[in-house]
Amino acid sequence: MTNSETKATLSFSDGSASLEMPIYKGSVGPDVIDIRKLYGATGMFTYDPGFMSTAACNSSITYIDGDKGELLYRGYPIEQLAVNGGDFLETCYLLLNGELPNAAQKTEFVDTVTKHTMVHEQMQFFFRGFRRDAHPMSVLVGTVGALASFYHDSLDINDPHHREVSAIRLIAKMPTLVAMAYKYSIGQPFVYPRNDLSYSANFMHMMFSTPCEPYKVNEVLVRALDRILILHADHEQNASTSTVRLAGSSGANPFACIAAGIACLWGPAHGGANEAALSMLEEIGSVDNIPEFIAQVKDKNSGVKLMGFGHRVYKNYDPRAKLMRETCYEVLNELGLQDDPLFKLAMALEKIALEDEYFVSRKLYPNVDFYSGIVQRALGIPTSLFTGIFALARTVGWIAQWKEMISDPEQKIGRPRQLFVGSPKRDVPPIDQRG
Ligand code: SDX
Repeated sequence: MTNSETKATLSFSDGSASLEMPIYKGSVGPDVIDIRKLYGATGMFTYDPGFMSTAACNSSITYIDGDKGELLYRGYPIEQLAVNGGDFLETCYLLLNGELPNAAQKTEFVDTVTKHTMVHEQMQFFFRGFRRDAHPMSVLVGTVGALASFYHDSLDINDPHHREVSAIRLIAKMPTLVAMAYKYSIGQPFVYPRNDLSYSANFMHMMFSTPCEPYKVNEVLVRALDRILILHADHEQNASTSTVRLAGSSGANPFACIAAGIACLWGPAHGGANEAALSMLEEIGSVDNIPEFIAQVKDKNSGVKLMGFGHRVYKNYDPRAKLMRETCYEVLNELGLQDDPLFKLAMALEKIALEDEYFVSRKLYPNVDFYSGIVQRALGIPTSLFTGIFALARTVGWIAQWKEMISDPEQKIGRPRQLFVGSPKRDVPPIDQRG
């Protein structure tokens, strides 16, 4: 971060105040105006609901150019990482440490994560309190938060070693907990992790194997899942990452912070969109129904949105959506489902929407969630678990951002202010004098 020669000057038309503010330059992307002295100098706050024009921090982890449709993890384009950048754990190492691992570093990292995939044997008892049809995200919010109760030895967030151990534990145990949530929902026994399988193969094993017969890992499907995890690993200061940072700014332990991130990700405007997008496609049913559906979306009173479309930052095609569509082709071809009606419906819907003025004028393009439901459904993952897979993948991004925040000398407890529009001070009337 460097100081710009240019300063920002704020002056009021009535001449009541004038303030000069520094401008900082990052390595790439928009500069920022440092408004930290604004309230002290003017007695006023900025007003920015949804933080559309607000940088909450400085970060070196993930960069997004919404106009170009560009996504970089520590400077590497997502297209390169997802296609020839190795597997998800390499991306995890990159996001956590800032550089891709060499062979020796990768071996050590994979071994460390592998050795932490089991959860405490008593974790299974938390599941029994849930209904079998509980939404997996409710189970994950509960069980990830509960992990803290087993790790009093590594909850001192000011100890770099404790931060490192917590990061590894969360990355390693999320697949186990997501698979346990699934097994619990279908009444099958939990499956222990296997140290002889890769991260994604182990997840598929814990999800789909049973004690009754050996489970054969399909490497094409494992690679597809691994790519899905890479595509979802981090995404700058999105709603759930900002939630994790805000929770972490109070000094809350990392398990509590990640549980807060999971809760936020659950929303259909955010990580819940993949589940909602698939339900939308199933509701549309056929290409013939697309025009009627699009008409509903355009009718503001309908409250209907094109799920999997639009993005706060991308005003161009989400680069992850392109890669997700390619993964759809690969998986459906591998499974002999080339004619999957939902995939064909999704492509038809995308084509129609991208030619429609309503979407073009609002720069609404498919985002990461538009195709991810189709490919996860083809992998045998139930719709209700799609957002759980998103949380599994995003855990490394959340924890990398949390670690960066904790070690940032500028970090303070996050505490936004407000424009108060409620009642000024008034006296409490006795109950017999109230209207
Ligand atoms: C994720 O932030 C991240 O990085 C998130 C994420 C990540 O990796 O962490 O990328 C993951 O959350 C992707 C987004 C998944 N959500 C969906 O697909 C849900 C559908 N999308 C919309 O809810 C919406 O596009 C948002 C929430 C994603 C973005 O909302 P914005 O930036 O607040 O957009 P907006 O409401 O300002 O929209 C501008 C206009 C509005 O119309 P007008 O008022 O100008 O007439 O576009 C319309 C909106 O009504 N619009 C849509 C639409 N999205 C926006 N109209 C129909 N369908 C949509 N999907």
